[in-house]
Amino acid sequence: MPARVQDRFAQEFGATPRPVLWFAPGRINLIGAHLDYSGGDVMPLAVDLGVYAAGRLRDDGVIRLRSLDQQLAVDTRVDAIRDRRDPAHDWAGYPLGVWQEFREWTGLAPGVDMVFGGDLPMASGLSSSAAIEVATAFLLDDLLGTEIDARELALLCHRAETRYVGLQCGIMDQFASALCRPRHALLLHCHDGTYEHVAMHGRGFEILVMDTRRPRTLATSGFNDRVRECAEAHRILRRDVRDLPYLAAYSQADVEAARGALGATLYKRARHVVGEMVRVRSGVAGLRTGRVEQFGAALTGSHRSTSVDYEVSCPELDLVTSVACESEHVFGARLTGAGFGGCAIALIEPGTAQQVERRVDREFSARFGTRPAFMVLHAGGGPRRVD
Ligand code: GLA
Repeated sequence: MPARVQDRFAQEFGATPRPVLWFAPGRINLIGAHLDYSGGDVMPLAVDLGVYAAGRLRDDGVIRLRSLDQQLAVDTRVDAIRDRRDPAHDWAGYPLGVWQEFREWTGLAPGVDMVFGGDLPMASGLSSSAAIEVATAFLLDDLLGTEIDARELALLCHRAETRYVGLQCGIMDQFASALCRPRHALLLHCHDGTYEHVAMHGRGFEILVMDTRRPRTLATSGFNDRVRECAEAHRILRRDVRDLPYLAAYSQADVEAARGALGATLYKRARHVVGEMVRVRSGVAGLRTGRVEQFGAALTGSHRSTSVDYEVSCPELDLVTSVACESEHVFGARLTGAGFGGCAIALIEPGTAQQVERRVDREFSARFGTRPAFMVLHAGGGPRRVD
């Protein structure tokens, strides 16, 4: 992949001077579903697949963007970039958003040629968009010599997503891509952006990704609806129960106390958030002490709550997770990412992927007439320059 990106760069923009090439990983979220924008704890890990970005500065104010797997080529000028995404720019909205936030943060407005390519399935819940953003940010930082630290770059990418692109997401994806370490998950406390690296190796399980290949059609509108619902639930809890700074800080008893005022829908959303915090604690404790069953049970509980109370699952995700959980080699399973389609993960005994896949594949094709895709993914590292 890095060679293909370099070749395309040479074809489009010329081979010399040689462009600088950066890689940034995608992520899976092990546990902590839809907690980041409610100030909760989440535990993603960077995977060993991601996005490569090659770039070279220009001194004439022109910006040109190309992608190996997207038809659309975007040519624009630095003075044409506004503070909101232009829908005509499609995928290029992500790098342009980072460029725009970079201008805001540093005052620099460089012309640049960039080519992107990746080995991560797009728009499937493995955070290809955060990987594009983070690769762009590390690349621009390198080209311009600005030496912004990794956490600040992650926050800059998060602003690109929420302000420029317009998805009201939390900080998880950009932090996971920018800050993970090889063989570790990232336990991220989203209310203040602090984090710990939790060792993943030798834990007696593998992670099987099950891609339903169902497009995430509701992902943007449904996602922003959930963000609004959680903000509203928090407002009611502050008013009627007690004043805590974010929704994930409340307890189950608080949510019960406000049940009437919340109404059926907001009650379910809030119940998911406070219950998921308990599952994160239990899951992390299981992971730290090598109790894989406990970790797996937290994942399965997370899926149930995400599906029933948070309502961001779909029949395909429910099927792959429940069939996986019926297999004797599986410790637990849940959807990963925003939901509404895309991928689920299963925690499996090492070396049993094929058996689990066969069973899920059989039942999935019988029910939906299409076939899922499977991958065993490993905990990769954060961004790196590829020389
Ligand atoms: C998407 C968002 C994240 C997070 C997850 C759900 O990936 O970008 O910020 O909210 O969904 O856990």
